Amino acid sequence: MTAQQRIVLGIGGGIAAYKVAALLRLFKESGHHVDVVPTEASLHFVGRATWEALSGQPVHTSVFEAVEDVNHVRLGQDADLVVIAPATADLMARLAAGMANDLLSNTVLASRAPVMLAPAMHTEMWDNPATTANVATLRSRGVTVVDPAVGRLTGQDSGPGRMPDPQDLFAEAQRLLATTPATSDRPGAAGALAGRTVVVSAGGTREPLDPVRFLGNRSSGKQGTAIARAALAAGATVKLVAAHLETGVPEGVELLTASTALELREAVTDACEGADAVVMAAAVADFRPADYARSKIKKKGDDGAPTLTLVRNPDILAGLVDRRRADPAAGPAVIVGFAAETGDEEGSVMDHARAKLARKGCDLLVVNEVGATLGFGTEDNTVTVLSADGADEIQVAGTKDEVAGAVVTALANALNR
Ligand code: CTP
Repeated sequence: MTAQQRIVLGIGGGIAAYKVAALLRLFKESGHHVDVVPTEASLHFVGRATWEALSGQPVHTSVFEAVEDVNHVRLGQDADLVVIAPATADLMARLAAGMANDLLSNTVLASRAPVMLAPAMHTEMWDNPATTANVATLRSRGVTVVDPAVGRLTGQDSGPGRMPDPQDLFAEAQRLLATTPATSDRPGAAGALAGRTVVVSAGGTREPLDPVRFLGNRSSGKQGTAIARAALAAGATVKLVAAHLETGVPEGVELLTASTALELREAVTDACEGADAVVMAAAVADFRPADYARSKIKKKGDDGAPTLTLVRNPDILAGLVDRRRADPAAGPAVIVGFAAETGDEEGSVMDHARAKLARKGCDLLVVNEVGATLGFGTEDNTVTVLSADGADEIQVAGTKDEVAGAVVTALANALNR
């Protein structure tokens, strides 16, 4: 994390605005630069002077103030994080619609930084289908909408709709800042991977038994394609080596396809010529049938069944590491592996992951805890990115796009080290 990061703190027109003064203090005490952008309505609850005094910065609400500073785009462009608390139903509706009718909504539109909203409103408003739809829209665009707390509201009523405590919002904001590079090297902004070529393998291999049967696995390719998309957004040239995918191919990648582990090894090795980084997100079969039957294997007798003999497939990731050891100029400079791990009596998920990082000799290892319902085919994912030099250890839980953002950040950091 860089020493000082720039936070835009938007204030919505709700009574919980008074609690945000404590959040502002937490940001300031941890060394961040904070620009407070209140909505006009919020000034009924907390006045401009409070925000100016606590932030040490001038405070505006309209795009027509301090026009010479072009605040309506500069604040958003410079921000490392936009936090809005309290986020009212009206403000979220405007943001979901992409409106830009005050300085705060302009700032959100003009920013590529992560946006975090802390809604606060009466339960009826939070439960209203309009609000539900707006929250879903914002979340689908990658906005972090924190769930409101349950408790006493402004009047006699209580229920979901309370703004979470400033300490909790501070912790969530710190988490977002930790997984986001500074503005200057954020993907898509200045292009953390501009001029770089990144190879990403994705999907599951299939090892044929006969013309109609294969040994496969449950990988959907969603995490790998999300990484390809994030690398594209960061300005990289992306070569996607796709095994079997249950998801679309991102527009803009150079696509290479492979079905078996042996084909994938050839495609990945070719694609890595001159590449800066490779991300092995594909689920590669460790074994393949020793023999391929040219015609369909038939039932014989009443209850007989064939015995399958398997042989080991090459470890593609280890092969890339070995090749670079033999000739460092061959690259790629950064080799990223994935580990789908479960804990067992011999060690925790992280014990196995650290051992695998050492064994495989790659630079970064994206550790994914899998189980019957975790990881494969799901929309959300929880991973830890370990780096061999110990420089980065990023933990991120969220959509596969959010995880992909963290992987690309760690990748860009490693390339720049
Ligand atoms: N991998 C590979 N070639 C293989 C198997 C795996 O390149 N034949 C890569 C995967 O793409 C992934 C990493 O190795 O990046 C880890 O794969 P995983 O299946 O989790 O680990 P294994 O090495 O198979 O170890 P284990 O048997 O302990 O699961």
